[in-house]
Order: sequence, then structure tokens, then C-alpha cells
Amino acid sequence: MCGIVGYIGDRDVVEVLLSGLGNLEYRGYDSAGVALNDENQIKIFKSLGKLKVLRENLEAHKSELKAPKSGIGHTRWATHGTPTTNNAHPHTCNCGSLALVHNGIVENYKELKEELIQKGCIFKSQTDTEVVAHLVAHEFAKTHKLEDALRNATKKLTGAYALCVMHKDEPDKIVGVRKNAPMIIGLGDGENFISSDVPAIIEYTKKTIYIDDDEIAVITKNSVKIYDKDGREIQKKVEMLPWEPVALSKLGYKHFMLKEIYEQSDVVRNVINGKIFDINEPVRLPEVNLTQENLKTLSRVKIIACGTSLHAAMVGKYIIEDFTGIPVDIEASSEYIYRKSNTDASTLVIGVSQSGETTDTITAIKQAKSTGSHILIITNRPDSNMARLADSLLSVNAGIEVSVAATKSYTAQLVSFYLLALHLAEIKGSMEKSKIESIKHDLIILPSKIEALLSDTKTIKDCAKKYSGYKNFIYIARGINLATAYEGALKLKEISYINATGYPAGELKHGPIAMLDETMPVLAVLMPGSIVYEKIFSNCEEAKARNAKLIALTSEDTPAIRSLFDDVLIVPKVHEFLSPILTCIPLQLLAYYIAEFLGKDVDQPRNLAKSVTVE
Ligand code: F6R
Repeated sequence: MCGIVGYIGDRDVVEVLLSGLGNLEYRGYDSAGVALNDENQIKIFKSLGKLKVLRENLEAHKSELKAPKSGIGHTRWATHGTPTTNNAHPHTCNCGSLALVHNGIVENYKELKEELIQKGCIFKSQTDTEVVAHLVAHEFAKTHKLEDALRNATKKLTGAYALCVMHKDEPDKIVGVRKNAPMIIGLGDGENFISSDVPAIIEYTKKTIYIDDDEIAVITKNSVKIYDKDGREIQKKVEMLPWEPVALSKLGYKHFMLKEIYEQSDVVRNVINGKIFDINEPVRLPEVNLTQENLKTLSRVKIIACGTSLHAAMVGKYIIEDFTGIPVDIEASSEYIYRKSNTDASTLVIGVSQSGETTDTITAIKQAKSTGSHILIITNRPDSNMARLADSLLSVNAGIEVSVAATKSYTAQLVSFYLLALHLAEIKGSMEKSKIESIKHDLIILPSKIEALLSDTKTIKDCAKKYSGYKNFIYIARGINLATAYEGALKLKEISYINATGYPAGELKHGPIAMLDETMPVLAVLMPGSIVYEKIFSNCEEAKARNAKLIALTSEDTPAIRSLFDDVLIVPKVHEFLSPILTCIPLQLLAYYIAEFLGKDVDQPRNLAKSVTVE
């Protein structure tokens, strides 16, 4: 949620920090700051609001800077203490000799703060982070070695943290440590970087080292050393990042969200690439590290996720149960972690997460792993903490998703679930060959249908304009597209702040129908195929009788549809089983254009963050 970047080298330190923070901006934040080591003096600049305010602040104080050779920067998403300049990072100690930035939460900060106040520390912020700054300063006074000070200080902390620290008396180094929060090192030539995420460094280097929990990284201009929790130097693998810097460009689109929506045909191609060769050949999924025997005898699947990923999980449940007959339950990670777990060695536990860093899901997966379950992770970040917990890792290959609202990563998760369900069905022999073949065939041609859909979005734009003044919406569906209704409503809420509720169409009459009148449009996802099509149609008649405005999302352009519905959004005809991959797209666009008409900050909606690393 917060972002960290650190740099040491000959480039313009301020520029590297600001551009790195800029590339982390999409994660969501409320304030930002940098600390510069400028001729053995620590200089801190902090601002409330967007990065441009910090940039202006630094511009205004440019004449105070001599020649900074290293620095650390931070974008904050408030947890302890409101968003203010004082609460923004970096934080420092009484004498201002060090600067520290932090992602995560220090759970025992209150006790530590009491102790530090007794020792004479003066606190200027309400944050948990400032406690760590004082602690490290105390430890530094004993050892005069920043890495030892940080190691000793972190021994007193409970919670999650990625920390970066600089000290004026050791001007040639930046020291970092992490526990349950991501941190990577970027290796350059005569320069080095440290960051909480890849986008901050990708412009400069692809060579990286991933830091593990409790490891201390000491970076200087010409060296990177990693130590274990006992202070022993360890050798780490240098890896090459799979991303290109161009992934962080809008490529002419007004927003990242729109660009990412338009990338979805390629995303589907990428996900099936190398997995489906021919409709007659079995799906190739070597990433699933379970023997055929294990898979054949699999008795239960549990899927754990949050938000949009949980909606992908809903579709996953539907198709795995339908294709294989294996019972599947899904659960929000935040619910799973606080009740008695009923997973065991015979359960396949699937964790779904675009970021791979969601704390709730990581905690849930760790708990499930401890019960002996095989852990399969579906994520867009094979370099993430969650990916590291996987026994089987399905990397969805959607490319970096910058917009906070997930779009292409959702589609990629859906396609991954189809591959997995088909793979399981083929191994179990639980589905007729002809049905498997027709789904594979339709998956292969799906990208061209997405392209057709995206080639003409006028009706969606017009609809967005017409409905942008409404304050409440209900999105209804049944069967496999229920998740589409939930996801479409979530998209609208997230980026336009309009109240939209996803609901099973058949449940409307059990309560929500009481709210219906001309002020509450009902959007129905009705894709032909099964009996639920007719049923949703009837549910919409009931809504119409209460004067609700009706919007249809369907592939059926018939007189009956046109006469019942006020507005109709048409998608190409598609196998009902695959329709969630197509139907989510007009709803992403509808949310996008409504938010655009309302002048909202589409890519960085208020209060939200791209990866939610707090509970
Ligand atoms: C919505 C969205 C969130 C995330 C949720 C889980 O657009 O992105 O609802 O899906 O915070 O995040 P991940 O998938 O990274 O675990």
C-alpha cells in the first residue's frame, strides 16, 4: 500500500526517488516524502497529497541542496494517524541523524513508544513508524553500525514491515530489512536501488535480488551485501525481472485502466499460450505439481481470495464443480483466518491474488499450508510473497497492472481457472470429450470476440452518460454470471463512488425489490444457454413493474429484449460457460466511462490501494 524507494549512486538522487515514487503512485497514497544524505547531513522533505506537491516542495528548496549522493523516499497510505505532513515518512530521531521509511504495521508500537518516551524520545507524529526510527537511533548509539542497529531494533518489533534507513554518520549506505512485506534490491553499475516493488526500479535495472524475511540488506554505491538474522553474510540469487519499462506507459490512452481494459484480448492469448495447442490435445499445465493419482482422488477444493480475486474464485468454483464434480468452497481470506480451519492434506487450497501481496490472503494461505493442504497460487506476480508459498504456481501473465481497479488481471485469473478446471476434468475423465473440445475451441477464439466487443463502445459510452447521474444501482445475474454482477458493481463503486450492489436475480424478491423505483436502475446480465436466462428475464419483468430503469447485458438482440429493457449492451455470442470472460468487459467500461463523466480520479480512486498489505 505504501511505497518505498532508495537510491545510492551518481544520478540525480531527487529525480530517481521522485520517478520511482511516481511509478509506485498507482498503489494509492495520501502523502509522500524523501530523505537525502547531502554532504553528511540528513535533509527531509515531506508533503501532503500527490507527488507533484512534493516535487514542488523540493523545487522550492533546491538551493538548500548541495550534492545528495543517496536518498530514500516513501508514499504513505495512512494506517496510524491521519494523513498529515508530520505523519508522512521519512521519520527521524530526536537529533535528526537518521531517516527511516516503513511499509506495514508495527503491532506493539504503543508499548515501545511508552518506553521510548521514558528514555527521553520526543515524538512528532502519531505513527507506529516513528517508534522504529527512535529505536534504531538508540541501537546505533551502542554499535555505530547501521545494519547492527536495524537488526537489534527489529528484534523488538512485532508485526509486518519493510524498512529502509540512512544515517548521517554512515553516509555511504542504505540499509533495509523486511518481514511479511515485500522488498527488492535493484543492481546497477556503480549504483544500487532498493524498493518495495518492481515499477520503482524497472526504468534503471532489471537485475534484482529478492530479500527474504529477517534478512538485512546493506547497499552502497558499489556493493550489495545481504545478512541473515544472526548477522552472517549470505549469498543470494540475482534474478532478471520479467517486465519491460513500457508496461508503465499509458501508450496514448487517457488512463491506465482504459489501456488495461483494451489489453484483455492479448491477455487471454497470453494465458492460453503454451497451454492449449489443439482442441484434441489435453491442456498442458505442468505448473500443477500434483501427481495424476493425487488429482484423480482429490476430494475437495477450497479457494481463498479477496475483492475482485474472490469474484474470479466464484467462477472458479462454478466451473470446477461443473466440470469435475469435486466440491469447491470459496471464502474471503479475512473470514477464513479467524475461524476454525477445516482444510487438511486431502484439500487442494487455491489462493488467488493479482498482487500476491494481500496480507489477508497470505495469512490464510499460511494457515492452510500448516494443515498439510497442497497450495496452488494463481497470481499475476510470480515474484510475490504469496507465490513463494506455492506448492504449485499458476502465473497468469497479465503484465503489470497499474490502475488500482483490477481489470485485465481478473480476466487472466478467469482464464487460468478455465485451464485448471479443464485440466482436472481431463485427468478425472469427468466431462464429455465433445464439451471439453467445444470449450477449448471457444477459448481459442475468445480474443477475437473481445476485440470485436472493444472495437465499438459507443453504446456503452452513451449508457454511461445517461446513467451517470444515478446514485444507486443493482446489478443482477444468476448462475455462472453472478460473479460478473458482483464484479461489475464493485468496479462502479470503486472508481465512481456510486452505490452499486451485485445481487442474485432470484433473491431480488426476497428483500431488495422493496428499494426499486425509478431512481434505482437494475442492470441484468442475461446470457443465453441455460434455464437461468428465462428466469432472469422474469426477474427483470418484476423490476420493471416497480418502475426501475432496466439495462440488459446480453448477446441476444431480440425484440423481446428491446421492448423490456430501456438500454441494451450487446456482447458477441459465446458459450455460456465462457461468458464471464466477455461480460465483465462492458461492465468495466461502463464503470470507467461513468467515473470519467463524473471527473473522478480513475486510476487512483480515493482510499484504495493496489496491494492491501494490512489486515
Ligand atoms: C478491485 C481490486 C481489489 C483486489 C483485492 C485483492 O479492483 O483490485 O478488490 O482484488 O484487494 O487484491 P489481490 O487480488 O491483489 O489479492
